[in-house]
Amino acid sequence: MITIDSIEQLRQHLWQAKLEHKVIAFVPTMGNLHEGHLQLIDRALEEADLVVASIFVNPLQFGPGEDFNGYPRTFMADQEKLMSRGCQVLFAPSVEEMYPDTNISSTIVKVPHLNHLHCGVSRPGHFTGVATVVCKFFGIVQPDVAIFGLKDYQQFLVIQQMTSDLCLPVKIIGAPIARAESGLALSSRNGYLSSDELQQAAQLQATLVQTRLALEAGEQDMLALEEQAQCDLEAAGFKRDYFKICRQQDLQPAGPEDKQLAIVAASYLGKARLIDNIRFSLS
Ligand code: PAJ
Repeated sequence: MITIDSIEQLRQHLWQAKLEHKVIAFVPTMGNLHEGHLQLIDRALEEADLVVASIFVNPLQFGPGEDFNGYPRTFMADQEKLMSRGCQVLFAPSVEEMYPDTNISSTIVKVPHLNHLHCGVSRPGHFTGVATVVCKFFGIVQPDVAIFGLKDYQQFLVIQQMTSDLCLPVKIIGAPIARAESGLALSSRNGYLSSDELQQAAQLQATLVQTRLALEAGEQDMLALEEQAQCDLEAAGFKRDYFKICRQQDLQPAGPEDKQLAIVAASYLGKARLIDNIRFSLS
């Protein structure tokens, strides 16, 4: 695996592969890699001849008071993991390389109808930061395929919408959520949890599953189910952010007529803000 930190060198390196019409898959990350990230690499290898991963903690997607400075940075270990999993190219630019003039981007990419929902409410500007950096990466790497985890389902929809609206020639693939044995979705932010909190954290997925079972049993009062779920999470030691039963395609509130559903949730536990979701069809 080759590690490259400059846009120019990456372009030079990928030039030959493009001339040979090799299929390039791209896996963007912020590092502190776990099995969930590495399964994206596995999926990329199934799709492509050449897999490019990136590690870049993107300041544009962190709000004031969020954990940009404290975000876990474990570059050497990440490099090892990517290499042993078969990734061929690691792009790891500095903030100055990505945002040379002002440390921020003058051009921004916004996906308004998804921006003001759920994580977009709790983290204003977050998805604009994500869409902008991913759009830049697509311009730099020019991949044929890009793989994103469905753990960040709203982010996945933002990227799909952006790619479609801007006619970017990249196929977007969503990969399943990798979980610990307890059911907790793997996340770099799980490292903020104590060992007791790690056990409590499994309640987030359990509550999603309970709510799904209630819907499958015919319960139609969405607001009551959401409130029950929030109370159950509080009883397990969480602090509220959101817990919503939505339409899978656009994350708008689901009504009784909707069959393709996503339940999306974010909740605070100790120093961590955890997110998770479950997607399913009602028959
Ligand atoms: P990061 O949180 O590092 O996640 C990188 C990719 O890994 C994302 O596509 C995310 O959905 C996926 N991922 C994380 N945990 C996962 C899990 N348990 N199962 C499956 N996939 C998982 O998401 C970002 O970085 C950034 O916003 C980024 C897209 C890189 C833009 O800066």
